[in-house]
Amino acid sequence: MQNESGKRAIIRPLPQGRQTELNARLLCPPDKSVTHRSVMFAAMAVGKSEVINPLMGADCKSTMAAMRALGVRIEEHQASAGKPASITVQSPGWDGWASPLVPLDFGNSGTTARLLTGLFAATPALFVTCFGDASLSTRPMGRVVTPLRAIGAKIMGRDDGKLLPLAISGQQLRATEHSVDKATAQVKSALLLAGLNCSGVTQVTLPSGSRDHTEKMLAALGADIDVAHLGGHETVSLRGPFRPPARQHLVPGDPSSAAFFAVLAALSSGRVTIRGVLDNHTRTGFLEILSRMGVNFERQPADDTTGYLESVMDLVVHGGASLKAIETEAAAAPTFIDEVPILAVAALFAQGVTRMRGLGELRVKESDRLAKVVELLKVVGANVWTEGDDLLIEGGERQVSSFAFNPDEDHRLAMSAAILAKFANGPCEIADPECAAVSFPDFFEVLSHLG
Ligand code: S3P
Repeated sequence: MQNESGKRAIIRPLPQGRQTELNARLLCPPDKSVTHRSVMFAAMAVGKSEVINPLMGADCKSTMAAMRALGVRIEEHQASAGKPASITVQSPGWDGWASPLVPLDFGNSGTTARLLTGLFAATPALFVTCFGDASLSTRPMGRVVTPLRAIGAKIMGRDDGKLLPLAISGQQLRATEHSVDKATAQVKSALLLAGLNCSGVTQVTLPSGSRDHTEKMLAALGADIDVAHLGGHETVSLRGPFRPPARQHLVPGDPSSAAFFAVLAALSSGRVTIRGVLDNHTRTGFLEILSRMGVNFERQPADDTTGYLESVMDLVVHGGASLKAIETEAAAAPTFIDEVPILAVAALFAQGVTRMRGLGELRVKESDRLAKVVELLKVVGANVWTEGDDLLIEGGERQVSSFAFNPDEDHRLAMSAAILAKFANGPCEIADPECAAVSFPDFFEVLSHLG
């Protein structure tokens, strides 16, 4: 049992640690990336769209609040009588957005900040100012601002637009061929969203592996979009202009949220089923990693898959295996980039030295996640270090002493620390557990019902 008291959560360990028979079925919370994009596409369409099973986490609420400020009506409906929660989005359409009277607050949300910068910069006559919280205000915006300026965007901002706050004066932008040096879905998506309002073909070439929701959703909405893979790179070509039609969007479960309970199950005994998880290979790299470490799991058909754009599975994870260390390549990192903190917890119990290569992007996430992962594992006495952009963890069977950890308001660090705490030899304390609400609002409640 654990309880939240003010700004800290006390996590009590599983009664028999790794020997605990954990048998549970739980519903995966909705996907954050798909919810952001569903809200954006619905707000771009004229008329009424519906987003079924949206994530009502703080990040997605930042996207919703931004769209409301532009004149889009968004109503929330609670889950009832077996029906999932939903939102209805009533919009005048992309061409009918009004300039907001006040600055937009993007909170902690990188996806809101990057994608909406692309979208707003490409909306003639729209004027938007925007800012974020302390963490978002340190995260690089130049990666979207620079290529947008190259096609005619007028964006002013702190440190010459490298950082929030920004002021965006929407323009008619030019379709072009962009070359991006990182596998980043947020930059790819920002440029594609801008390309929707350009006349002609917008092309984005980048290293392969970043999540592909924008492309898949645009194809389903009827856009003329094509993806080609060559020599470790992907090129997305999109013909504009294109206006998404109003429609129903159905949000699957978030693999990044499932990963916490997958690792909890893997490190204990028994079997945990996580229902309704999105099975998209740009998101499930963590399953590859767990499998190579020796974890047994199955993908089972989900109960109801009607209406989903992509495969959805029930993920059944079996505990009890002894884990072994692995090495991962930099090219694979984008497919599990958000899961590194929880995979690092698994690696702590895997025999040998795990090396995850090419994690430089973690330095510019909600915190310097590379440093915070090292800090978390050091708190429990682990031998963990970085070499350049690689993370190395010496793992094996171990006793974890009870610990206190401050995730610095990084949701994924708070949840990873909580899972690690389940294997400690006494209660552990996690500061600011509320930050989990960014992506998994009832994480601590769900955790308290398990074991
Ligand atoms: C996201 C893309 C990823 C991921 C982030 C959400 C998105 O970032 O880390 O949490 O919704 O597009 P990258 O831009 O590094 O791919």
